[in-house]
Amino acid sequence: MARPYLLGQLSDLHLGKRPRDGADPTSSLKAVIAGLARLPNPLDAIVVTGDLTHYGKRKEYRLARKLLDATGVPVHVMPGNHDDRAKLREAFALPGEGDAPVDYEVDLGPLALVVVDSTAPGEEEPGRFALAQLKRLDRVLTDLGDKPTIVAMHHSPLPTAMPGWDGANLIPAEDRALAEVIARHPQVRLIIGGHLHRVATATLAGRPVLSGPSTYLQARPNFDTEQVEMYAGAPGFALHAWNDGDLSSQVEIVPAA
Ligand SMILES: [Fe+2]
Ligand SMILES: [Fe+2]
Repeated sequence: MARPYLLGQLSDLHLGKRPRDGADPTSSLKAVIAGLARLPNPLDAIVVTGDLTHYGKRKEYRLARKLLDATGVPVHVMPGNHDDRAKLREAFALPGEGDAPVDYEVDLGPLALVVVDSTAPGEEEPGRFALAQLKRLDRVLTDLGDKPTIVAMHHSPLPTAMPGWDGANLIPAEDRALAEVIARHPQVRLIIGGHLHRVATATLAGRPVLSGPSTYLQARPNFDTEQVEMYAGAPGFALHAWNDGDLSSQVEIVPAA
């Protein structure tokens, strides 16, 4: 029996942040990786949707690399707003140079993974794309033809109805610009992101969008405040299973460390 292709998704590791509210990013990530190791079926690859580190320091990237390499499966990473593009690039041997946007694509076998960097260096929170990045994305998706594709970025391109998060997420005009590109490419089956520290879904250009859980702190659902409140909830990961033309995205919560 052919088995599904399994892509694990980790997000918002924030390695280097001092333990807070009973949560330590390193032990929390280790608990999530132990959860991955307990899966009855081996993963084929892991994608990390940004904020690998909290301060973007070299030693934080070294720790990220060490813990992720120990999973024994290929790992594909991208920057979040807490990351340093150049240091992330150096630690994970990513294509491109220096602090240019980290945009690249990977052939996963049955699927293509296309990474588009939604961070804006020097800015605290909101996500955005340079026009050249969206043109590149359009070109890459054109070249992929009908190959089933997952597009990944740090800022999840979805509205949350929470003023705190909507103000600190992808700028709405960028959501629309991204939607225009995605609309031209029917082989895009899923868009994944993080940043929200919360599992959330919506659609963009008719395609599902999933924001994966953080391996560290989770965000409380508060719909009437500009503040985002984090708490030490159980961390988790998402699992994307490609099975004979169907893509199923699921979330696994693991006991907090
Ligand atoms: Fe984060
Ligand atoms: Fe973030």
